[in-house]
Amino acid sequence: MQEQIEKIGEAALADLKEIGESASLQAWKVQYLGRSAALSKILDNMGDLTKEERPIVGRKVNELKNTLQEAFAVRGAALREESIQKSLLSEKVDITLPGRELNRGRLHPATQTLRKIYSIWADMGFQIFRSREVELDEYNFELLNMPEHHPARDMWDTFHTTTPGVILRTHTSPGQIHVMRARAPEPIRVILPGMCYRYEQITSRAEIQFNQVEGLAVGRSITFADLKGTLTSFARRMFDQNVGTRFRAQHFPFTEPSAEMDIECFICGGQGCSVCKYTGWLEILGCGMVHPTVLENGGYDPAEFSGFAFGMGPERITMLLHQIDDIRAFWKNDWRFLEQF
Ligand code: DAH
Repeated sequence: MQEQIEKIGEAALADLKEIGESASLQAWKVQYLGRSAALSKILDNMGDLTKEERPIVGRKVNELKNTLQEAFAVRGAALREESIQKSLLSEKVDITLPGRELNRGRLHPATQTLRKIYSIWADMGFQIFRSREVELDEYNFELLNMPEHHPARDMWDTFHTTTPGVILRTHTSPGQIHVMRARAPEPIRVILPGMCYRYEQITSRAEIQFNQVEGLAVGRSITFADLKGTLTSFARRMFDQNVGTRFRAQHFPFTEPSAEMDIECFICGGQGCSVCKYTGWLEILGCGMVHPTVLENGGYDPAEFSGFAFGMGPERITMLLHQIDDIRAFWKNDWRFLEQF
């Protein structure tokens, strides 16, 4: 019996030496010190032993139990220490390594210009009104005073869809009709920004898609002087506090009278250079007093109401501001271009 106890002890200690992780350590404890371990069984069966043997075996078993308990605690502490050392080694931080730079994102140049335009008009009390990009011919042309076969339609080369009468808007002006019909007879001060599409040959100066920012003010007794003053204020905020402006007569079917606003060339200060093609002026936008027919189509009585409207191209303005000579750069997504802004 005593020999058996010694064997159990030897086997237990030999096993313990081999253990390398705490899960196996727990299993070892169950095997040698648990309720159904060989040692416990010996104690359970003490009744089978002689009177003389009992105290000797009892003492032996208890001694061994204590020894194993102690060995278990020592091995457990060693394993914990080992795992701490391991993680200290593998998680070492080398603070002398150079930093890894993150690429900082930025807004697209057209978006930057758009946001500046929004904030200037917001400061003057103009709300943003979003109008649809897929539009009816009726809104894009007819209601803007260009009935079918009107020669002015040729100014806008149009993308047609397979559904007759449904087109991609060629300008943001159809939004004027939408906002008027939504608001009549309340006064209106809105800008209508968004993508426009034209069926054009793509060149350095022409794209098939581009943004426009339309503007519309409708109310009682709005005059051409309001148009000139408001657009001049805009130009000063957008370009330079001292920029010179001029209004040139122009024709648009949806405004009467119509004009284009130029600003003094900010590259050469009006002296003449390649950017302003030696005229000293840069064309910025088209504008005019809303045509009575258009007011009526929007639900306003032209005898009582008047208004002004304008339309500008933020990409064109961005090109002038940064002297970008190819409009195709805007939608190419070449980061060598984009990262400059
Ligand atoms: N819709 C015109 C275009 O695409 C721009 C324009 C001119 C808009 C005069 C207007 C305006 O609102 O009054 O070329």
